[in-house]
Amino acid sequence: MEETKVLVVLFLSLCASRLGGSAADQQWTAANATFYGGSDASGTMGGSCGYGNMYSAGYGTATTALSTALYGDGASCGACYVVTCDAAATRWCKNGTSVTVTATNFCPPNYNEASDAGGWCNPPRRHFDMSQPAGETIAVYSAGIVPVRYARTPCSRSGGIRFGVSGHDYFELVLVSNVAGSGAVAAAWVKGSRTDWLAMSRNWGQNWQSNAYLTGQALSFKVQADDGSVVTAYDVAPANWQFGSTYQSSVNFS
Ligand SMILES: *[C@@H]1O[C@H](CO)[C@@H](O)[C@H](O)[C@H]1NC(C)=O
Ligand SMILES: *[C@@H]1O[C@H](CO)[C@@H](O)[C@H](O)[C@H]1NC(C)=O
Repeated sequence: MEETKVLVVLFLSLCASRLGGSAADQQWTAANATFYGGSDASGTMGGSCGYGNMYSAGYGTATTALSTALYGDGASCGACYVVTCDAAATRWCKNGTSVTVTATNFCPPNYNEASDAGGWCNPPRRHFDMSQPAGETIAVYSAGIVPVRYARTPCSRSGGIRFGVSGHDYFELVLVSNVAGSGAVAAAWVKGSRTDWLAMSRNWGQNWQSNAYLTGQALSFKVQADDGSVVTAYDVAPANWQFGSTYQSSVNFS
């Protein structure tokens, strides 16, 4: 009996930590931040989540790379974080400011460097390597590394979820982007006009894979966010859809 109780408590606290972004009780967690990619954020294009060009993907320069502890093998791609400089811990803050960034990249460990000098993304450190324009909103650039506090926050996006289809017959790779709400996709399905719903698997970042033959069929997609909510986008791509094209749905999370 006791064990069951412990498991239930453990399960509930896991749920609570996953839902840390809900506006109701925002929990602030300590981390550190550095800035990368140059003052025009050109070095932040591309990235491990697979979004490619940040402007066409809808994210602009308000982006961040996450250390292993936060990145979750791509599970956090698309999630939004509000980050504020910890003025009690450094004199480099622009006091009273915060910035909201989308996770678009992975900050890899660097085991050759001490974790406070170049190895700041080494596990188990929670670290945001933010685009320079985003970082400069909350701290002075010359600070190098600054202590911050962060919380998950709902993502606001304009327009519907986008589905970029690449690959070839029997191998579709679908990039899911411009996701509002929780922002991070936990599961995805595709349906051709002549198939049932087919579960896709995460290939890398926010690229989801199907090995079905879907050529010549209109495509519908179903997306589940990491807070459990589900959105269905019917007939997003017409029957003559092409590999290499991106199709924007009219639906999104709220
Ligand atoms: C932030 O970096 C400093 C300096 O390396 C370190 O002492 C501190 O523990 C780090 N904070 C977190 C939350 O990792
Ligand atoms: C920011 O706040 C800290 C702590 O309250 C203070 O020491 C520091 O001088 C402030 N910085 C600026 C630029 O106002």
